[in-house]
Amino acid sequence: MFVLHIALQGCLKGVDVEYGLTADTGGHIRYLLDLTRAIAGRDAMSRAVIATRCFDGFGKTYETPRETVMPGVEIVRIASADPHYLPKEAMHREVESFAENLMAFIEAEGRPDLIHAHYADAARVAAIVKERLGIPFFFTAHSLGRVKEEALRASGRECHGMAERIEAEETALREASLLIASSRDEAEVQYASYLGYDAGRIRILPPGSDLEAYANAEPSPSVDAELARFLLVPDKPVVLAIARPVPRKNLAALVKAFGENPALRKRANLVIVAGNRADIADLDGDMAETMRELLLLIDRYDLYGTVAYPKHHDPQDVPAYYAYARERGGIFVNPALNEPFGLTLLEASAAGLPIVATDSGGPNDIVETCGNGLLVDPHDHSAITEAILRILSDAHLRKRLSKSGARVAAAYDWRRHAERYDELVRDVLSPARSVATPRRLLISDIDNTLVGCLEGIRIFGDWRRKQDDLAFGVATGRSFHSAMAILEQENAPRPQVMITSVGSEVYHLDRSGVTYTADDRWRAIVARAWERDRAQDALEGLSCIRPQAPLEQRAFKLSYFSDGRPDTVRLVRERLERAGVRASVIHSHGRYLDILPLRASKGTAVDHVRRHYGLAESAVYVAGDSGNDIEMLRTIPQAIIVANHSDGLPNLPDLKHSYVSRRTHAEGIIEGVRHFQALARNACKPAS
Ligand code: GLC
Ligand code: MG
Repeated sequence: MFVLHIALQGCLKGVDVEYGLTADTGGHIRYLLDLTRAIAGRDAMSRAVIATRCFDGFGKTYETPRETVMPGVEIVRIASADPHYLPKEAMHREVESFAENLMAFIEAEGRPDLIHAHYADAARVAAIVKERLGIPFFFTAHSLGRVKEEALRASGRECHGMAERIEAEETALREASLLIASSRDEAEVQYASYLGYDAGRIRILPPGSDLEAYANAEPSPSVDAELARFLLVPDKPVVLAIARPVPRKNLAALVKAFGENPALRKRANLVIVAGNRADIADLDGDMAETMRELLLLIDRYDLYGTVAYPKHHDPQDVPAYYAYARERGGIFVNPALNEPFGLTLLEASAAGLPIVATDSGGPNDIVETCGNGLLVDPHDHSAITEAILRILSDAHLRKRLSKSGARVAAAYDWRRHAERYDELVRDVLSPARSVATPRRLLISDIDNTLVGCLEGIRIFGDWRRKQDDLAFGVATGRSFHSAMAILEQENAPRPQVMITSVGSEVYHLDRSGVTYTADDRWRAIVARAWERDRAQDALEGLSCIRPQAPLEQRAFKLSYFSDGRPDTVRLVRERLERAGVRASVIHSHGRYLDILPLRASKGTAVDHVRRHYGLAESAVYVAGDSGNDIEMLRTIPQAIIVANHSDGLPNLPDLKHSYVSRRTHAEGIIEGVRHFQALARNACKPAS
């Protein structure tokens, strides 16, 4: 396999990268080197070339045409029109000339199987090469123009070169075979404002990270001594935060949580490691203001002796801070208003600390995958306090959360990343065809139906491969990417149809066999008469429900947690009725409450998919395990309830027609399909 990576920005080299040498010599270089090394380490026959710009002014290295990183990985420096170093804002002018020279390189050196463009301007180069030579490409944005633009606008600063960057990202959305994102936040929120956005075209592949230093974190005398200067009772459990002092990191919320809750103050010390400073007045704009606010709050609540905010630390001290907290049964907290990825959460977990993290951004993925902490609404101080106190006072929970560190290292490992990357490349290059004109359709719920038993999934995968007239799909309360993540994690077969967000979205597998396209017709159907804002306003202030995390909110799904009391659903319905809002209210697991457009549900979506394939009702099977499957099981004659069901499904009068399998999970699905097949065969037999 020959993959040609394109990365035009910064001072890129194979060893001793001078991060920070220019504003663009940043994390994407580390990512590229780690990625290509991991892939070469997996497959000695693979070849990776990183094509970057050749420029003068920064020494010989950046003018050298070729550099070997390791066997199988090479950096190639290609000239563009301008011979000098250029910042990313000026890079769009080099796209054409770079592409020409890159194609000459390809002509001379052989055709790559795939191109992988890193960052917006590289996508434009890749699109030109694709048009001329037909080579498909992947795209990794690393960071998105629209997000940056919004942040700059919000802080009243000017933004240059953004229009070109955003346009290039749109090009990637149109032309790339696959877009790679590092978190659900990127895939589902950040990309969502682009014209060419389709969630199904994006796949989440979080970067690996080197957590060894954290897994082996040991206390250090210098860190102990530093903290002893602040803390009167240094052996209390520690609530630790490590973040730059900028408003987005929301450190003030943590100080307020402490200041306002005497129980928490008594229980624990607070340690805030917020960068380095000589004189606060000399810190960059935002940071000075944030530090002042923190000090003011510490004084206001009189937290002296219980909060530490060291003035200096070296990078190698960081693991020791985690170790300090771990030794004292502490917790790591990241209360950021939004956290795009959440590297510190991985570090803290690897060091053996339970975490409390913002429910906005990347931490959702981390906590969902690893089960290493609790998510909280960063705007809600009391929720932060509650989560911290819960972990501090429940030794069992604390132990479970801190033991997830090993899982973190495995999930965010470059080897694992390389393995999945390789699979995606192979799939794109030689797609497995889906069943274009199926004669039967099987739609299964995901959690506790399709997944939940690894062996069952393996058996299901083998069985599924042999059903060549059967289209297989899933129907779930999860969003597209949340569903994709669990399916991949559990090695489930790739569904041909994905009904997500409780039936409010439908995706079809593309001919590529890897990406999906949202079903626009379904979208138009559910959109009719849907008044999301009005529904939200109508439920404002209702105390028996509280909103789920921002990531769970979708264009056609408004989700809350309910207090599980019997009259909660009634209260919600009354509120909506009184406001004249027509919507369906679905309550499941005694805890989730989804407000959906009237036409959206797992059942109506299954019916839409059935029509899409032109199948009769008798050709459809559905399988589920719990409350949010009732509606789908109710409306489809060949309904399967797996043995590990909950919510009393088999006893519901509406589900009398269902087959309750003896086997659990995925094996129960196979059993159910066989049952209905046998019934159908018997019905066809002529009466004797
Ligand atoms: C999934 C979704 C959640 C929804 C629930 C029930 O857990 O993530 O938003 O409320 O399913 O449908
Ligand atoms: Mg389920």
